[in-house]
Amino acid sequence: MKKINVITIDGPSASGKGALSRKIAHNFGFDILDSGLLYRLCAYFSNKKINLDEIPKKINSEVSFKLNDELVSVHYKKKDITNKLRTEEIAKIASQMSAKNETRKSLFNIQRNFYTESGLVADGRDMGTVVFQDAKLKIFLTASSEIRAKRRYLELQNLGQEVNMPALIADIEERDLKDSSRELSPLIPADEAYVIDSSDMSLEEVFSFTENIVKKEFI
Ligand code: C5P
Repeated sequence: MKKINVITIDGPSASGKGALSRKIAHNFGFDILDSGLLYRLCAYFSNKKINLDEIPKKINSEVSFKLNDELVSVHYKKKDITNKLRTEEIAKIASQMSAKNETRKSLFNIQRNFYTESGLVADGRDMGTVVFQDAKLKIFLTASSEIRAKRRYLELQNLGQEVNMPALIADIEERDLKDSSRELSPLIPADEAYVIDSSDMSLEEVFSFTENIVKKEFI
């Protein structure tokens, strides 16, 4: 299989995939795909009673993604809806919808279209196993559920959202179980993925470990 200039970063919720992807994209001049945001958009549109078969067209024509200062924001009809997508409520609906074949199929081409010659960092659950099987480098990033809940807690607090820690741990564990045990595109490392447990590592440490692999593979 011909390999393309893609780095896939898969892993459970709040394992640090987003922060690592943004840092790699920023430092190496790669584009970025946060595929979770696409599933969250499906949930957002379905809350607005928009049919699933209309969603890809809407995403292609009315939604834009911007990477500013290492943060990805989502704009719909020129309004920034990032904070509306980054709630646990939307995440739950996204997780339910993501188990359905129609949802995954409808997002497949949109995800592939993020690829450009300048390279792409793709973050999600099935980037290395399904969407970019032909990626040059695959990473699976994980961490204990307590650590991930703490990271998500800080993230949500920074977005000004109220959070209840026990409920958050329960939500994260429930979502992980659903994502890993579903029949379609379950959350599992690709055979050739580097598996990194970041429970005891800072973002800087994870970045410096991956930076070396990226340099070896891409430069
Ligand atoms: O990564 P994030 O938490 O934003 O993803 C929200 C949900 O979307 C996940 O819990 C998962 O169910 C789904 N998802 C997926 N495949 C991906 C990315 C996200 O099924 N590649």
